[in-house]
Amino acid sequence: MSPLPDPFAVTERGVTEARPAHAALRAAGPLVRIDAPAGGSAWLVTEDALARQVLTDPRLAKDPALAPEAWSRIGLEPTAAEQTSMTTADGPVHAGLRRAHAPLFSARGMGEHYDRMTAIARELLTEVADGEVDLAVDFATRFPVTAICDLLGVRDYGERASAACRAMFTADAGPAFGTFMELATVALTERGDNLATALRDRLPDGTSENDLRYCVFLIVFAGQITMDSSLGFLVAHLLHERPDLPDRRALDAYVQQNLRLHPPAPYTLWRFTTEEVELAGQTLAAHSPVLVDLAGITLDPDRPEGPDLVFGAGPHFCVGAQLAQLLLRAVADVLTHDFPAARLAVPFEQLRQRDFGGTQGSHLTALPVRLRPDGV
Ligand code: HEM
Repeated sequence: MSPLPDPFAVTERGVTEARPAHAALRAAGPLVRIDAPAGGSAWLVTEDALARQVLTDPRLAKDPALAPEAWSRIGLEPTAAEQTSMTTADGPVHAGLRRAHAPLFSARGMGEHYDRMTAIARELLTEVADGEVDLAVDFATRFPVTAICDLLGVRDYGERASAACRAMFTADAGPAFGTFMELATVALTERGDNLATALRDRLPDGTSENDLRYCVFLIVFAGQITMDSSLGFLVAHLLHERPDLPDRRALDAYVQQNLRLHPPAPYTLWRFTTEEVELAGQTLAAHSPVLVDLAGITLDPDRPEGPDLVFGAGPHFCVGAQLAQLLLRAVADVLTHDFPAARLAVPFEQLRQRDFGGTQGSHLTALPVRLRPDGV
């Protein structure tokens, strides 16, 4: 058998081409042994049914304290003991955090912000509406972080938060994290009613200031790194296909279809076996790292009918899924109704996408657009 491709390789390719590794890994079986970026080996789940099993099995836990001893800590979050958070905790502690977030991030809770979110999309697009503009830079990265910071009452932190999100994957992660902590402190203490203070009021008594700030950090960071990927693809397809989107149902369906074509989170976060576990006929030792290939499974032409895995599944299902879809709908709404003449400035087929390596999603390298080609 030929060696498997590296799922974490940096590749650049055409806008409609999937990462080359997904199909080959899927063909290799439902559970594939791969080289882990942090050293040693890991397991990748490539099949829908097995993914759902893994994402609901308590023997596969998030706590980075369970990572193999040899793993470099670079790229991992603090352990659950060092930092309680939705992304490090499981069980009752995790359930408590989810309960606090649930109504605020529900379809209903988020729906209240729709008009405000469309107003921000309109404002940012109008700012760059003259001449040709690269919407990958001037909108796809700006809009999500501006919108999320606005919900948190700290819109003035938008640009700094955007830069901090990018810096989290570099040697400057320390200062970038400091920016998030400052943003969170301001949101929680100085800005009156907003999503951060609403969350503070719902979290269990005794939640530390540090844990509160980390919750705010997660909302900004997890939101931005996924949304800036998905927005570029959505806008590109929208301007190329010019679909008829007369109402909310049509907008939502178009957004969903686009998320499935370009899953913004190609892989889950790492999980680790708490004990020896039998999976798909293989024995995984305790502390084995496991990842689910969400993009590979979603793009599988033989995937069974039913819900996709774009936002994950099980207790860690994306807490921001409704917010993400609301923001994407807002953009589709504003582009089709306020900028009906908007055009791609290059043929769709010439658009390119690139990933940064690791578990991050792909981004368009550029998205040249004329929002008002006729000057109106
Ligand atoms: C299209 C955009 C998005 C996609 C595709 C996406 C995808 C995902 C996925 C797949 C997970 C589960 C990871 C795992 O099980 O290991 C997740 C978790 C999470 N997402 Fe999103 N996400 C998106 C947008 C957002 C936004 C806007 C927010 C802001 C609130 C957000 C916040 C989170 C948080 C806090 C978690 C951790 C939840 C937990 O562990 O209980 N995401 N996301």
